[in-house]
Amino acid sequence: MKPREIKTGVYSAGAVDWDRRLFDSRIPLPDGTSYNSHLIRGSEATALVDTVDDTMAGVLLDNLDRLGIKDIDYVIANHAEQDHSGSLPCVLDKFPRAKLLTTEKCKGLLIDLLGIKPEVFTTVADGETISLGDRTLEFVHASWVHWPETMLTYLKEEKILFSCDLFGSHLATTDLYVRDEGRVYEAAKRYYAEIMMPFRTIIKKHLERLNGYDIDIIVPSHGPFYSEPGFILNAYRDWVAGEPANMVVLPYISMHGSTREMVRHLVGALVERGVSVQQFDLSVTDLGKLAMSLVDAATIVIGAPTVLAGAHPAVAYAAILANALRPKVRFASIIGSYGWGGKTVEQISGLISNLKVEVLEPVLCKGLPGEGDLKALDGLADGIVGKHKEAGIIK
Ligand SMILES: Cc1cc2nc3c(=O)[nH]c(=O)nc-3n(C[C@H](O)[C@H](O)[C@H](O)COP(=O)(O)O)c2cc1C
Ligand SMILES: [Fe+2]
Ligand SMILES: [Fe+2]
Repeated sequence: MKPREIKTGVYSAGAVDWDRRLFDSRIPLPDGTSYNSHLIRGSEATALVDTVDDTMAGVLLDNLDRLGIKDIDYVIANHAEQDHSGSLPCVLDKFPRAKLLTTEKCKGLLIDLLGIKPEVFTTVADGETISLGDRTLEFVHASWVHWPETMLTYLKEEKILFSCDLFGSHLATTDLYVRDEGRVYEAAKRYYAEIMMPFRTIIKKHLERLNGYDIDIIVPSHGPFYSEPGFILNAYRDWVAGEPANMVVLPYISMHGSTREMVRHLVGALVERGVSVQQFDLSVTDLGKLAMSLVDAATIVIGAPTVLAGAHPAVAYAAILANALRPKVRFASIIGSYGWGGKTVEQISGLISNLKVEVLEPVLCKGLPGEGDLKALDGLADGIVGKHKEAGIIK
């Protein structure tokens, strides 16, 4: 995509990656992504905010050529991760006079990750400003969104917040700004769930701090920009701090149908009792969808048949993922079928030890679930409803 003007002298110069389907060798990208990079021309100086993934360095350099940029005074690195900093070496080669502005921590990481020479850096303090002549940039340190070194950059005169990964969405689109709110909401929620959710306590503090800024446009480093910042700020407030919903997330797997039968029964029992459920067959599911459902759910029930004395490995992976994402779930349980014995419950319990949950009595059955097992599942459904009521999740 060619450069596009956001405001007079402020250009979007990054790249759209339509075909990428996996991020961090883990996160599915059903809609591709973009690496947003911005050129700001002031009356006295020119700044580039973030770069692009190194696979797309050529797009950024071409765009800077198209804009007629012969010299850059400041390159700002909000974040050291390679999808935004991977092209820094090429940019610094082409514009050797540029000073690289970043936090002290980001400097260390960029030296370690990309071998950038220490002498090109100028570190900036939290709240520090630099003048581009008629324009001023303020640096807002925002650690742990989602790495320890991150910062945001605020362009005061235009009231634009360059928020880097915060508020981003993995969405390849020709829309510069949000046009289809439903689509962007979904993509931004997926992004939040997979990348930001583990840091929600600190993000809440950053959101409070942002209340003190007058923001007209939020420009993240992935996906379209927000000309109505309230759309994404309110969504984040809800995801970060909203009460969990009267919902059970049920990731499971079944080799021969027994655990599936248990899932089918439990889902029916929960729905009869007014609890909504999102079930995911882990042999085919998109784990991003599982992550998204964990943003809101009050309870997680993990369905695991026993294999080689423990949980099916695909379920163990999902449990590790849920544990790492630290959602606001309050209750957990385990169901599953076994043939002769194993340590499935102990293993899964150990894998989700980060979750601050009350564990409800697991239901395991030998082979196909019989009448007693189905009653036990009804009992689990009753238990979940009781806990949701006690916690005020069901009014
Ligand atoms: C490859 C394989 C390994 C298994 N290992 C164990 C085991 O170590 N302990 C056990 O109790 N059952 C084991 N089983 C039996 C299953 O747990 C049992 O058949 C269960 O009902 C399967 O549930 P599902 O129909 O939901 O897949 C194994 C089954 C398979 C296919
Ligand atoms: Fe990142
Ligand atoms: Fe990123």
